[in-house]
Amino acid sequence: MRRSGWYGFLRLFYSIKDNLAVLTSLRHLWRTNRPLVVLLGGMVLLLALYTYLLLVIEEKYEERQKLLIAIRNLADDSFRSKQPTMEEHKEGLSQTIKRLESPTQSRTQGRHIPEWQPPTCEPKQNVAFVKVHKAGSTTVQSVFLRYGYFHNLTVMLPGGRNPASFSWANNPSPGDAYPVSGGVYNILTHHARYHPETIQARMPPDTVRVAIMRHLLDHLKSMFNFIHLNTKYKLLSITPIQTFLENVTDYAEIDSKFYEGRSPTRNFQSFVLGFDQMKDVGDESTEQHFREVTTDVPFVMILEHLDESLVVLKRTLCWSLADIFYDWTARNYRKFYYKSSSLSDLAMENHRKWSSIDYALYEHYNRTLWEEVAKGGEDFALELEHFRTMNSNVNEHCRIDPKGSRSFPATKWSMSWTVDAKFCKQLRQERFIWDWKLAMRQNEKLRRERLSP
Ligand SMILES: *[C@@H]1O[C@H](CO)[C@@H](O)[C@H](O)[C@H]1NC(C)=O
Ligand SMILES: *[C@@H]1O[C@H](CO)[C@@H](O)[C@H](O)[C@H]1NC(C)=O
Ligand SMILES: *[C@@H]1O[C@H](CO)[C@@H](O)[C@H](O)[C@H]1NC(C)=O
Repeated sequence: MRRSGWYGFLRLFYSIKDNLAVLTSLRHLWRTNRPLVVLLGGMVLLLALYTYLLLVIEEKYEERQKLLIAIRNLADDSFRSKQPTMEEHKEGLSQTIKRLESPTQSRTQGRHIPEWQPPTCEPKQNVAFVKVHKAGSTTVQSVFLRYGYFHNLTVMLPGGRNPASFSWANNPSPGDAYPVSGGVYNILTHHARYHPETIQARMPPDTVRVAIMRHLLDHLKSMFNFIHLNTKYKLLSITPIQTFLENVTDYAEIDSKFYEGRSPTRNFQSFVLGFDQMKDVGDESTEQHFREVTTDVPFVMILEHLDESLVVLKRTLCWSLADIFYDWTARNYRKFYYKSSSLSDLAMENHRKWSSIDYALYEHYNRTLWEEVAKGGEDFALELEHFRTMNSNVNEHCRIDPKGSRSFPATKWSMSWTVDAKFCKQLRQERFIWDWKLAMRQNEKLRRERLSP
């Protein structure tokens, strides 16, 4: 007893002595190396500011949104027209909600809706989502992230240099993902080229594969704006997309210089789905891959018909309605001066030839989507309406009263359900926050497992 007390005292003495030594050496550092100390201090401050933005501002959604818009304005040099303010943004939002609400109420009113019955199917929880850039995929990604987090599933998180993707624009490779307990992932939803080998190696055999596509011309415009192609191609005309498409093969030369043989404009969405983007429809290997992809990925969401797509997804995966609610605020929303410009016939025809695989794929998947919708019949139509009403109610609630809660009675398609502050927060939570939370949870589980084998 006395012995350990003596040792404790000795340890305390030495630690005070060490701390004093650190202080003196810091003072010495300050005298001799002032610029270095200032630099280090500055870096610590920046880090603190970054952490503040990451964690604290997360609570203050609107302020953060304003900040992001301001940062984007600064960064976007091709920006010419006025950026939407928060007010305009909201205005657009409530208009969309109104538009969607009005037909809904008239059709379901006064009709007898059968009561909620628990589903007879088992939810499918293993999903590989091919996140196509600039196709509204961020909105859908957050649905998958929320589902994975809520159901304690493992999400494949990029462990490489880019926290948002797996070795983009190459195929993902085995060392790309953070390890998890058990080594098997339930959900893949970060940017990755479609790569069946990775899915087979890292995910359960019953993994459902799904993707999203967007109308080709809108996608092209969005891509153009996103990576400032008009500046790169020196397209100073008022209709850069039209000039580009009318002379598309000339610009392809410039493409190959910038992007090392890859093209940001040609068959881009197909490229994400594993196609060789420099080929055309009719080519033997293209046709072969087309057959494989359309078999392995039977269903692809279409951004222009997002609500229909989500209800088909819900039915395919046997999920609940609350699983597919999504944030109305368009993620990565950008406005640019040529967004709604119309194109000449020549330009559109050239685009069709230039991105022939994209067109074939988009048309195929739009057709299969509507076949599914038709198969669902009247029941699908009613569920879709119900989903739209509920989703707009939830969004409206979270916008007006994000800290409160609101209950919804059971209907045929959903059990009684309450939206609360936690759900509102998760509905609009950004990817990097999800990544951070998922990584904490997954690493903790792995660590505990390694400690107690
Ligand atoms: C997820 O895990 C937590 C903590 O272990 C548990 O309370 C919760 O019920 C789990 N959720 C589901 C959907 O299994
Ligand atoms: C683009 O094509 C138009 C005709 O379609 C032609 O007049 C123009 O010179 C071409 N521009 C370039 C840069 O090739
Ligand atoms: C998809 O197909 C449906 C049904 O044929 C059609 O009404 C719709 O316009 C198509 N969507 C797009 C964006 O082309």
